[in-house]
Amino acid sequence: MKKHKHGLAAGDIQPASPDWTIPQGWENYTDTEHATWKTLFERQCKLLPGRACDEFVAGMQDLPMGAEQIPDFDEVNEVLLKRTGWQIVAVPGLVPDDVFFNHLANRRFPSGNFIRRPDELDYLEEPDVFHDVFGHVPMLMNPAIADFIQAYGEGGLRAQQLGFLPQLARVYWYTIEFGLLKQRGELRLFGAGIASSFTESQFCLDSDSPNRIRFDLERVMRTLYRIDDFQETYFVIRDLDELLEFTQIDFAPLYERAQAAPELQPGQILPTDEVFHRGTGAYHRKAQAH
Ligand SMILES: [Fe+2]
Repeated sequence: MKKHKHGLAAGDIQPASPDWTIPQGWENYTDTEHATWKTLFERQCKLLPGRACDEFVAGMQDLPMGAEQIPDFDEVNEVLLKRTGWQIVAVPGLVPDDVFFNHLANRRFPSGNFIRRPDELDYLEEPDVFHDVFGHVPMLMNPAIADFIQAYGEGGLRAQQLGFLPQLARVYWYTIEFGLLKQRGELRLFGAGIASSFTESQFCLDSDSPNRIRFDLERVMRTLYRIDDFQETYFVIRDLDELLEFTQIDFAPLYERAQAAPELQPGQILPTDEVFHRGTGAYHRKAQAH
């Protein structure tokens, strides 16, 4: 599966409004599009018990989101705003970094209003409504994640000015998109990129191939990631409150050290890592051979 990333060169597309938001246009979805949502939703709901963390499951339960149709953003926002002050806003696709960060800093999560094609269920060029709403919104119901992503938006605007965007983006990637955590002694997923992916929600927890390593902020800032395939390494946070602790830290000295140190390859393990599972690397070796 091809992975999305946030960030777009200025001038690629002309936005309809300065903040790039558009109406969701819920009434324009076709039966086929609702059916695609249903297929994805049902497939994922079978996989997530025992894999998704408790907070994801709880968030999902409290949201007006079901299999039958693509959720109406207004209905979702009614619940989400009351819970954590967040809302989703519709966008036509990727938006420029500064626009993205500005939305997050103001507790607005930009969500693609379109859905992938039914014959390309596992191919995502840009985040669509299933990734953004199914993957991200249940976690936005959690107060720790709500504060962390807002702080990430504020930090993103700062990092952009300081020239440390790659270092900060890796933190987001390895937590909000592909993060794991420990719950009752077992690994669980909370990242939206894996929660919304049929193949990777299994791979990240069940496969022997990837590394699973204890999350360390500065180490993660140095670690390259894959946007075109499954991750070679997943990082495991203690619990969601650990993310909340990061909002209290000044990242500037960490950025400096991380940028000065060598970049780490996606599958690399350091002697200082706390390794929960040393991956065989078999999956990516095979993928590279083709
Ligand atoms: Fe995402």
